[in-house]
Amino acid sequence: MNILAQLKARFQPVLASLTDEVGPLLEMIRPAGDPKFGDYQANFAMGLAKKVGKNPRELAAEIVAGAKLDDLCETPEVAGPGFINLKLRDDWLQAQLVAAKSDERIGVEKVAEPKTYIVDYSSPNVAKPMHVGHIRSTVIGDSLCRTLKFLGHNAISDNHLGDWGTQFGMIIYGYKHFADQAAYKKAPVPELSRIYRVVRGLMDYFDAKTKLPKLIEALAERTADYETAKNAPAPTDKAEAKKQKKEVGRLQSQVQELNEEIKSTEAKIAQTEDSPQLAKLAAEHAEIGSAVLKETAKLHEGDAENLALWKEFLPFCEDEIKRVYERLNVTFDHQLGESFYHDRLADVVADFEKRGLAKESEGATCIFLDGFKAPMIIRKRDGAFLYSTTDLATIAYRMETWKPDAILYVVDFRQGDHFDKLFAATRLWGYTDIELKHVSFGTVMGEDGKPFKTRAGDTVGLEGLLDEAVSRALAVVNDQAEKSPEGESLDPAQRQQISEIVGIASLKYGDLSQNRESDYKFSYDKMLALNGNTSTYMQYSYARVQSIFRRGEVDIEKLRASDVAITFEHPLERQLAVAVLRFSEALDDVLADYRPNYLTNYLFDQLAKSFSSFFDSCPVLKAETEDLKNSRLLLCDLTARVIKQGLDLLGIQTVDKM
Ligand code: ARG
Repeated sequence: MNILAQLKARFQPVLASLTDEVGPLLEMIRPAGDPKFGDYQANFAMGLAKKVGKNPRELAAEIVAGAKLDDLCETPEVAGPGFINLKLRDDWLQAQLVAAKSDERIGVEKVAEPKTYIVDYSSPNVAKPMHVGHIRSTVIGDSLCRTLKFLGHNAISDNHLGDWGTQFGMIIYGYKHFADQAAYKKAPVPELSRIYRVVRGLMDYFDAKTKLPKLIEALAERTADYETAKNAPAPTDKAEAKKQKKEVGRLQSQVQELNEEIKSTEAKIAQTEDSPQLAKLAAEHAEIGSAVLKETAKLHEGDAENLALWKEFLPFCEDEIKRVYERLNVTFDHQLGESFYHDRLADVVADFEKRGLAKESEGATCIFLDGFKAPMIIRKRDGAFLYSTTDLATIAYRMETWKPDAILYVVDFRQGDHFDKLFAATRLWGYTDIELKHVSFGTVMGEDGKPFKTRAGDTVGLEGLLDEAVSRALAVVNDQAEKSPEGESLDPAQRQQISEIVGIASLKYGDLSQNRESDYKFSYDKMLALNGNTSTYMQYSYARVQSIFRRGEVDIEKLRASDVAITFEHPLERQLAVAVLRFSEALDDVLADYRPNYLTNYLFDQLAKSFSSFFDSCPVLKAETEDLKNSRLLLCDLTARVIKQGLDLLGIQTVDKM
């Protein structure tokens, strides 16, 4: 049962008798911003009145009279210029709660018309360790898949591994030149990571060497601009003077940024040059950049040695990421990496050419797209295919195999241009009847507001991040255990187990509760806070209900199955009831634009807050009568079940004690 959907269905017929465009009007039925206006408010009368030439208040009254609402709502009130205020009937709410209490899905219905979605997420470039950047795609994608599936859609998750790119050229080159065979035989994964880091370090060194003179040149220019702007006479016009001041500030911060970049670039260079060992390596491998590209090209051309090495390395890389996925409790229906599509790429290019959709330009094969400055290159001059070519082949494969209604790509915002072009090219190719969506997300920042790095300036490894969150969670769990009478009974092994769940949850929730398109500052303390919009608080609310059941020796299963009535003695019981019943709406909100933070907002702002107020004012185990106690126990149970289900859709587990 979905309250909003019910209301819409009631208004639909009468609106349809007045206009052809009912859809947008139904969107104007919203939860009321202020409880004094009831539970929901419909604001369509004003706009519609203009269109049909009627008085808005009269029209509102007419619509209310024409909609069959009496079993659902109190008599609606027409307010102000024509707002319709809707208050749900208590007996109707109570009947919905009774239905939900014995329903496995807590009253959330599946969609009437399920669709097939492919969700492309996580998709790391393997052969290098997963880092903090991978957390967002992994947890957002997993949560969207879970939500789609829960609502009855056919959601197919596909981990589009980067298993065919330059990073393999890097470890192949590294293996050929730097491998410690004994170490590799003993433990291949750490040795391969070491090799990767050596090659990465050398390549970064040479990149830094190339970049430094350019940065210095840019600094000189920017500094000159800054001096000129600063010393220019101040304009007399106030607005102009303000503009100039702003410009000076802008240039000044650019100068500062360049200075910082130069400093870190110089530090990178010094790291290598100050170490005799590294300096010697750098001298011996001055051509490493092009050599790595050559190894990659050889792999793609089917060179026997490189292909054998790739086949040997890939399973190690897959085991690496599998370990992380296990800890994150994330699974995929498919894991078809870039390599899977290699043999199809030539055909894709040929097909675009045959249809006259791709043209040669300076030796490369390009798709020219309306509205884009640069074309999409699908084959380079040297014959190599690109990331885009693989993505086109992937779409064709997915269409043939699953005939999806939608493909969602949960990928960093920096790939926005790639996806804009990819989608345009896909339409041009003839796939017009499919939703293609880049579910874009921002960057994880450190507390200093810059992309999250270790103190040494390296990217933060994902496994280390998980370990740290778990160890900090243990401190929280120990602290809580000391405070609660039940907690002391938790032994060290149980506490460790709870910490693993609480720690990983805090990372996931900390990420999922953000507007995905914004950057956010990573903070263990905030994520693990016991108060506020955190998983720790949500898990704690859940455990609190379980603790009530234990203390009261309540057989909750039996109570659910009984015909105990749910009543509203106190306004906060009713408020909690409405919050519980709005779960289904929150899930619709999530899927409207693929935003899991609509679920965390709901869980915290509506459900947990209502529960906390209810709990402060309404004694449960000490309720005046047995009937009231049972009614309140059922409200607690419904709340806990929605929390558990909601967290599950975020990929987060609950614990009974914490
Ligand atoms: N492997 C890519 C990267 O790490 C992400 C792939 C996203 N999916 C896709 N179909 N392009 O940047």
